[in-house]
Amino acid sequence: MNMKKIIVEQPGGLEHLKLVDAKASEPMPGEVRVRWRATSLNYHDLLVANGAIPVADGRVPMSDGAGEIDAVGEGVDHFKVGDKVMSLFFPNWLSGEPSLKTTSDISGETVDGYASQVSCVNAKALTSMPENYSFAEAATLPCAALTAWRALVPAGNIKAGDTVLIQGSGGMSIFGLQFAKAAGAYVYATTSNNEKAEKLLELGADEVINYKEDERWGKTIAHRSGGVNHVLDVGGPATLSQAVEAVGYGGQVTLIGILGGRKAELVLPKLFFKHASLNGIAVGSRAMQTDMINAINVSGLKPVVDQEFELAELADAFRYQSSAKHVGKIVLTY
Ligand SMILES: NC(=O)c1ccc[n+]([C@@H]2O[C@H](COP(=O)([O-])OP(=O)(O)OC[C@H]3O[C@@H](n4cnc5c(N)ncnc54)[C@H](OP(=O)(O)O)[C@@H]3O)[C@@H](O)[C@H]2O)c1
Repeated sequence: MNMKKIIVEQPGGLEHLKLVDAKASEPMPGEVRVRWRATSLNYHDLLVANGAIPVADGRVPMSDGAGEIDAVGEGVDHFKVGDKVMSLFFPNWLSGEPSLKTTSDISGETVDGYASQVSCVNAKALTSMPENYSFAEAATLPCAALTAWRALVPAGNIKAGDTVLIQGSGGMSIFGLQFAKAAGAYVYATTSNNEKAEKLLELGADEVINYKEDERWGKTIAHRSGGVNHVLDVGGPATLSQAVEAVGYGGQVTLIGILGGRKAELVLPKLFFKHASLNGIAVGSRAMQTDMINAINVSGLKPVVDQEFELAELADAFRYQSSAKHVGKIVLTY
């Protein structure tokens, strides 16, 4: 079967993303072949594409995929032809606590990802899609949504009435807002501009602060809230000290992103005198993804898709992401 896929040619850079013709193989025992229909852009994919995360020459990028099974290998009994499925960020982390062994393979980085019309994958490295989801919607979930879900639910034990701070209006943060509201939380959000602030309010944020206008936004939020229960930190060095200002007694700062760089300075006593925790997480397991999908099926939550591109337009989609004009997710369909 002829198909198209995108590969990252070294030394990386958006000009080295190349659309190529390829032949799809037959599934081996334990594998299924998927006709991928959509992927979505995450900041991690941008780092792979622009060469900041070096990958093998010819690597197929993109950690998110949603598609339909078109062939089933020997020994696979839990999927059939026609089933609609989603990828896993960590294809070997199925359940339990993370370990080096289960998290060293990353889709679209150390192993091929889903910027491909067809590929064969281990049937265990997939989950079903939520009911009533399009492929484009399902492709927003495996990285961004699962990270927000894990930060708030299995790691954060969020309760109705909790206060949550999300930062910025990117893909992961918007899922953080949606899951927090679904859990009955009060949500503070930050953003870089007032137009996006309006959008965040429309999406359910209770209060929004422009972090460019108020550089001490963490203190402001602490003053208004008495200290929040959960912070989903995406800025790292750019945001962590204000995140620690914002968090309340016994609260949790979940370190998720490094939009502001890799090394941060912190005033440590502020953290321990509040008995607060600082907790790093990276996406989640298959079991967590299944729990999240079950919750989505019950709540009817739908992702916020900002814009759709075609497979051949991946570089343009990354340029759009880099311009930070988006709110929520950017999707590619094929
Ligand atoms: N640990 C994990 O498992 C995991 C999983 C998913 C994502 N991440 C990380 O989370 C971060 C966001 O990822 P994403 O895929 O959601 O990215 P994205 O969709 O590209 O979102 C980026 C958005 O972040 C906001 N932003 C940029 N600098 C900021 C700052 N200094 N303070 C607050 N907000 C800022 C901007 O929104 P505004 O203009 O509204 O401020 C920007 O549009 C990245 O660092 C990514 O690597 C980590």
